[in-house]
Amino acid sequence: MEEKLLTKLFEIKDSFTIDVYLKHDGYKAVEKAFQEMNPESILAEVKNANLRGRGGAGFPAGVKWGFVPKGVDKPKYLCVNADEGEPGTIKDRYIMTHNPHLLLEGILIASYCVGINTAYIYIRGEYENVALGLEKAIAEANAKGYLGKNILNSGFDCQIYVHRGAGAYICGEETALLESLEGKRGNPRLKPPFPALVGLFQSPTVINNIETLSNVPKIILNGAETFVQTGLPKDGGTRIFGVSGMVKKPGIYEMPVGTNLKEIIFELAGGMKDGKTLKAVIPGGMSAPILTADEIDINMDFDSLAEAKSMLGSAAIIVIDEDTSILDVLKIVTKFYSHESCGQCTPCRIGTKWINKTVQRIADGQGKIEDIDNIKRLAKNILGKTLCPLGDAAALPILSIVNKFRQEIESYIGN
Ligand SMILES: Cc1cc2nc3c(=O)[nH]c(=O)nc-3n(C[C@H](O)[C@H](O)[C@H](O)COP(=O)(O)O)c2cc1C
Ligand code: SF4
Repeated sequence: MEEKLLTKLFEIKDSFTIDVYLKHDGYKAVEKAFQEMNPESILAEVKNANLRGRGGAGFPAGVKWGFVPKGVDKPKYLCVNADEGEPGTIKDRYIMTHNPHLLLEGILIASYCVGINTAYIYIRGEYENVALGLEKAIAEANAKGYLGKNILNSGFDCQIYVHRGAGAYICGEETALLESLEGKRGNPRLKPPFPALVGLFQSPTVINNIETLSNVPKIILNGAETFVQTGLPKDGGTRIFGVSGMVKKPGIYEMPVGTNLKEIIFELAGGMKDGKTLKAVIPGGMSAPILTADEIDINMDFDSLAEAKSMLGSAAIIVIDEDTSILDVLKIVTKFYSHESCGQCTPCRIGTKWINKTVQRIADGQGKIEDIDNIKRLAKNILGKTLCPLGDAAALPILSIVNKFRQEIESYIGN
């Protein structure tokens, strides 16, 4: 059974409007936050809920908010990451389209908690209609007094702006996002300093994913304890799993954190399309190392997947069947990363290009058996040697594909 915390209103007509949202406890959490709580108690609640970031890295939101210094003589900012560029990932678009006010309420509570008066939603350029829908929702919230000056007579001011990106995957990396938002080329910054201290316009900044912030109203309204009861004690709540590829019913499924991957594929998503056999699964967006068919009896939470040397990432599940050539998968993965590398570091810029060229050569029937070890050598020379995590995000899935499907790749190489 699906556990609908974030997607509950999605099937209700006009769920994106403020009127429907208000009829279903909308903005009640922010009222509670203003009337019964203060920034310290909100932070404690979010920390107790152990809300882990849904953008990929799984960093606890409350801990991140707590890093922002108090009493600084500068404005602070919230940047909401709606870049959603990770292949396979579709969950944030659904939230923004079907329940934008849940997100706006989460932004408002986070901003009040950290002392932020300006929030930016950085949305990928391709999501044109979603961006327009968000702007409408912001206008509705302003008209009803949930945004702007002295919100609900609390003395707190907050405004949210939508900023559209221009289609670069790297702009989803948090510091590249900041550069892009400042009007510059989206090149990742060296860390430290971390954005909580030196972020947007050199000011303290919180960066959170859409799904992360959309969980906040539920935590405030129902309490951390209830949140933790769904999911796992160290990793509470639900995840919106986006299932794509060769299944009968691709789509999004909201389930408690820790739901079994096999159950998601074979029960919720209806099993394999056209009665085909499962070959492999990418469990957390394209950056996640691949799992073979006999590795999918696994719980979908950060720790279980890390133990299996993969990752939960954005919880985007890509299902691959027996008819799909693993070389085609490798071609897509390597082409993507070589195209999306920003070019600042040599191992990533050159390594991804060489790997992609080598894979293409194998696909063209010109491969040599030593190419396989060359791909591995190049990937290992990217791993851990780059400025931002895109390098590892490229190297790890490539290594996992080559290691687990070496025999099939060899079969494409003539002697
Ligand atoms: C190459 C790259 C792309 C990323 N793309 C996204 C993205 O589209 N959306 C997102 O929320 N996080 C993305 N991230 C993760 C962000 O850097 C950051 O960790 C996240 O937005 C923090 O939010 P959270 O703590 O709420 O998960 C990306 C990271 C990397 C390295
Ligand atoms: S790892 Fe790649 S994407 Fe990241 S900064 Fe270096 S070159 Fe750019």
